[in-house]
Amino acid sequence: MTQDELKQAVARAAIEYIVDGEIIGVGTGSTANFFIDELGKVKHRIRGAVASSEATAVRLRAHGIAVLDLNEVQEMPVYIDGADEITASGAMIKGGGAALTREKIVASVARQFVCIADGSKLVGMLGKFPLPVEVIPMAHAVVSRKLAALGGTPVLRIKDGKPVVTDNGGAIIDVHGLQISDPVALEAEINNIVGVITNGLFARHGASVCLLGRPDGVEKLTFS
Ligand code: 5RP
Repeated sequence: MTQDELKQAVARAAIEYIVDGEIIGVGTGSTANFFIDELGKVKHRIRGAVASSEATAVRLRAHGIAVLDLNEVQEMPVYIDGADEITASGAMIKGGGAALTREKIVASVARQFVCIADGSKLVGMLGKFPLPVEVIPMAHAVVSRKLAALGGTPVLRIKDGKPVVTDNGGAIIDVHGLQISDPVALEAEINNIVGVITNGLFARHGASVCLLGRPDGVEKLTFS
C-alpha cells in the first residue's frame, strides 16, 4: 500500500467518530484532506465544521460543508487531524503545514482528539521531525537564540525564497535536533518564551485516540 492509501484508510475509519447532528473540528494537511473528502460523502449527518486553517475551510466549502466561526461554537464532540509524530502515549508534534496555532485552538474546544496518521508517524521519542514554533515575525531572531539555548537548532521556515507567513500573520521556526523526553514540560517552557505564539507540541492535551494506517489494516490506539 502507498502512504496515500494508508492515509485514505484512516480517513475512512475516522468517519465512525463523527456524531450525528453535531459540529466537527477539522485539521489541516494531506491526511486531513482525505478526511474532508470522506466527510463530504456524509455531510448531511453534521451541522457543520470548524476549520483549523484557511486551506481546510476552502476544501470544506468545496464539498458543500458549512464552515462555522469558532466564536459561535461552545463545544464539539470531536476534532480530527493528522500529526507529524505521535508517541504511544498520545503526545504529538504537529505544524508541518504551519497550522499549529489554529489546530491547537480548535482542538481545545473538542472533547476528543482523533489523530489519523500512517504508521510511520508513530515514534518512540518525539524530535526527529523538527519542532515547529509559530512566532511574532519581529521576534524570530530573539526566540531563535532562546530555542538554541534549549539545545535545538532553529531554522526560520522559508518558502519560495521568503519567510512563511501563517494564517495568523506569524512566522515559523523549525527546531531541529531535539530529543524530547518530557514533551509536557518542553511545551510549557517554549510557550513561555516572549514572542512565541504557539509551539507544535500537543502533549498537555494530546490525542484521545489514534488511528494508524498499517498495510494489514487500521490500528487503533486509545489514550487515557
Ligand atoms: C499541519 C499539521 C498536520 O496535521 C501534520 O503536518 C501532518 O500532515 P500530513 O497529514 O500531511 O502528514 O500539523 O499543520
